[in-house]
Amino acid sequence: MTLSIRKLDKSFGGLHVTRSVSFELGRGERLALIGPNGAGKTTLVNLISGTLKPTGGDVYLDERRLTHLPQARRVRCGLARTFQITTLPPRMPVLNQIEMAIHARLGMEHRWWRPFSACREVRDEAWAVLERLGLEKAAGLAPSNLAYGEQRLVEIALALALRPEVLMLDEPMAGVPRGESRTVLRALEELPGSLSILMIEHDMDLVFSYAQRIIVLAEGRIMAEGTPEEIRRHPEVRTAYLGAKA
Ligand SMILES: Nc1ncnc2c1ncn2[C@@H]1O[C@H](COP(=O)(O)OP(=O)(O)O)[C@@H](O)[C@H]1O
Ligand SMILES: [Mg+2]
Repeated sequence: MTLSIRKLDKSFGGLHVTRSVSFELGRGERLALIGPNGAGKTTLVNLISGTLKPTGGDVYLDERRLTHLPQARRVRCGLARTFQITTLPPRMPVLNQIEMAIHARLGMEHRWWRPFSACREVRDEAWAVLERLGLEKAAGLAPSNLAYGEQRLVEIALALALRPEVLMLDEPMAGVPRGESRTVLRALEELPGSLSILMIEHDMDLVFSYAQRIIVLAEGRIMAEGTPEEIRRHPEVRTAYLGAKA
């Protein structure tokens, strides 16, 4: 599936936060969205996921126009996201949270009534998701008892339980201490190759090693777009954003 963003616009009162943003994300592509704080990155993900309604423009998944669908319907179409700030229920064991996400997905597919083996299948699938992210040891624990990096992985696990085609990650490394960043990085690298990923991230080492393509957002507009090499050499990006790091 191809995610197409066409001339998206968003204003909060007089504040014009998203300005005619257009881009595409192809199947299995790793796209990073970078830009200074307040550039409008989270707002863009909110518009694509349906958390916010745009004041103009459209969101398509292949030929299907999602612009006015509520968030749950977009999830059913294959669009999932994680949040910049952790939103996990702190006390429910991780395995149960994953199972609930799977049940929710099956419910959306109107398969919630399936008898007998359904619970067993859901449990097996939940374990498979945890294994993919290396979270087996966390299964019986509540998020409040996990290291912060693991909590961020649980959020990714919950999104994967929805079996998305497109996954949007809003700063997966935010707040993760140095000692745990390798764990998160390894999990990101292990995500299925067919999954399309849009990642917002401030960690430039991660962005430049992980992304196949980078979009730079500044004041709500796309200021530059290209391969990591092209972005590294881009004169305006260097002066405006990357600075000495480039
Ligand atoms: N719900 C909202 N109401 C009003 N202003 C908002 C809202 N959400 C974001 N903004 C403003 O939009 C701008 C972009 O915010 P955001 O998308 O969070 O940026 P980023 O994720 O790039 O740091 C900021 O000036 C922010 O204050
Ligand atoms: Mg943000």
